[in-house]
Amino acid sequence: MNLTSQRDQDAIALWNHAYVNGADNLWGDPPVPYASKASRLFADSGAFIVMDMPCGDGRNLPVLAAGAPIIIGADTSENALSLSQRILERAGLLRAATLLSMNAYATNIPDAGIDGIFCWDLLGHLVEPERAMRELCRILRPGGHIVANMWTMGDCQVADPNMREISPKTYLDHFDFYCRFYEREDIDEFLRASGCEALSVDLARWTEPPHPGYRNYEHDHESWVMTIKKH
Ligand SMILES: C[S@@+](CC[C@H](N)C(=O)[O-])C[C@H]1O[C@@H](n2cnc3c(N)ncnc32)[C@H](O)[C@@H]1O
Repeated sequence: MNLTSQRDQDAIALWNHAYVNGADNLWGDPPVPYASKASRLFADSGAFIVMDMPCGDGRNLPVLAAGAPIIIGADTSENALSLSQRILERAGLLRAATLLSMNAYATNIPDAGIDGIFCWDLLGHLVEPERAMRELCRILRPGGHIVANMWTMGDCQVADPNMREISPKTYLDHFDFYCRFYEREDIDEFLRASGCEALSVDLARWTEPPHPGYRNYEHDHESWVMTIKKH
């Protein structure tokens, strides 16, 4: 069964290859600022199992692990999971963590199996993000939270000379990664289509260091950050 669009299927191999090119670490060690906020939210709501979907090469895992006894790092890329393993080893977190190969469109996790989900820098790369969000909501327990972002049109990537516009608000980058950017009203439409209700939608700006082999300069991101609580 074809679970995702062809572009999303093809992206899985592209991502895996990018982590080889990125050698030790594609995204850099500093966690994104919202990881610590999400971690506190998960801890305050009594989360036992938190999932970082997708975990990439693991920059957000140690911070998220502080918010729950068990942390799952999930990603479609085996190479990313290997890099995450090293981060967990260095942080002394192997006993608290499980790394799983998993597709956000079809996780195979039972209904309500997860207490908190951090979903960073994934939805903008997906052709059908509302399908993935419905899957994340399915596996979230009632009372649990999802913290997820989608880039705005003010995000640095829009102005990157390597980006090729393929349709309004939609680009391919130099790795052929699909990147969709969202206006505030698009977020409302996305949430409606996903069947999710957000407690808040915040505008977040943060600076990231260069990602050698991918984006070789310090850059400013801008995202909508959705905090979703399942009823
Ligand atoms: C931009 S990275 C973000 C990683 C991490 N959240 C971070 O902030 O560093 C996007 C990640 O999504 C993963 N990915 C792409 N398609 C996926 C899918 N359908 N399901 C799960 N992970 C996917 C890629 O392998 C990649 O690691």
